Amino acid sequence: MPPEKKATVLIKNIGQLITMDGPVPRLGFDMNNLGLIKNGGVAAAGEEILAVGKSDEVEGHAELAEGCTVIDAAGAVVTPGFIDPHTHPVFAKTREREFEMRAMGKSYMEIARSGGGIRSSVRDLRTSPVDLLMTNTKKRLDTMLAHGTTTIEAKSGYGLSTESEIKCLEVIRDVNSVHPVDMIPTFLGAHEVPDEYRDKRQEYVELVIEEMIPAVVKDNLAVFSDIFCEEEVFDLKESRRIQQAAADAGLKLKFHADELASTGGSELAAELGAISADHLVHISEGGIKALANAGTAAVLLPGTTFSLGGKQYAPVRKMIENGVIVALSTDCNPGSSFTESLSIIISLAVVQMKMTVAEAISAVTVNAARAIDKNDDIGQLVAGKLADIVIWDMQDYRELPYHYGVNLVTKVIKRGKLVVQR
Ligand code: NIG
Ligand code: FE
Repeated sequence: MPPEKKATVLIKNIGQLITMDGPVPRLGFDMNNLGLIKNGGVAAAGEEILAVGKSDEVEGHAELAEGCTVIDAAGAVVTPGFIDPHTHPVFAKTREREFEMRAMGKSYMEIARSGGGIRSSVRDLRTSPVDLLMTNTKKRLDTMLAHGTTTIEAKSGYGLSTESEIKCLEVIRDVNSVHPVDMIPTFLGAHEVPDEYRDKRQEYVELVIEEMIPAVVKDNLAVFSDIFCEEEVFDLKESRRIQQAAADAGLKLKFHADELASTGGSELAAELGAISADHLVHISEGGIKALANAGTAAVLLPGTTFSLGGKQYAPVRKMIENGVIVALSTDCNPGSSFTESLSIIISLAVVQMKMTVAEAISAVTVNAARAIDKNDDIGQLVAGKLADIVIWDMQDYRELPYHYGVNLVTKVIKRGKLVVQR
């Protein structure tokens, strides 16, 4: 341990310290390797992890800074802060009416066709004051943090005009600068064709390419460009054009692909070297092979299947068998999956998709970091990475999905600061 650095946080007596130390990303059977240390300890100095190991070793070596926060975990489980690699947190109003309409037999696409869905959120966002969007977004992030999520990917996509997409991305930028949760911004101008372009969709594609992407890049407002590549939304040809333009402008790529039908979106994402392809409920065998070969991460969103009342979940076992990088996410949004809790997503992944608990934890830590290209900083508790740490009210990590629908977080440390205490 470098002698010049003193510990500002020390957590001792950790029953199961899940470090995720080991291969990055986690593939195949390695997803079960949690880098688990029994009777562990962690020390942080400032924003970074200083030392990880057996509790008595870390305690014995760490020189404590004045005012160091010392936490006795009393045998509890500790994990890296969870990472949510697919969220739509900036919206004006919730859509609980649609949720109930689906229970009464209407499908997501029927609701969208009749003017609800994404387009109704667009109408609400465009007329919403920035203050309200900031307040709403902070509220989402507070809830995420309380549930152990310390970094998220955050998409625009409810603006769908140059002005409103910029407004959305500026809210992400400004909330990011004041909130402990880190947000990585994604431009999603191709989320849907807005009302005023319904009978001239080609012009909307041109607007995204000619005006929106350059404006977003000029102001450095996004790291990624995403698209809803799906029947009745953006087809393969449009998706290719928009995403190629985004890549040429310097954005990294993400795709909403093969969610409601198999359209070849995964193959296109792999071909264009996307960092991730997301949803993938209807991915083909060829799509799975293509993602594995390209190193494009699969971000799976079982909360969306659940909330839309679907029966089919993404074929995760086939993906893991074929060496695809698998991550999990909430898809937090007002339409298809309104939850901030990655714990409930892990429950769904285990019960419905037949993942092991360790695989699911890999999928919200080290592999989720890979899905947002952040492995250098987060996803593992190892010296030099960010001190994003969660202490849980459980003695065995398998309790997390088993005790479902309940928040088991007791403390969250973000960038070395204790930010949640429950
Ligand atoms: O990821 N699939 C497209 N976008 C969101 C849903 C957005 C909405 O319905 O508002 C999703 O599921
Ligand atoms: Fe989404």
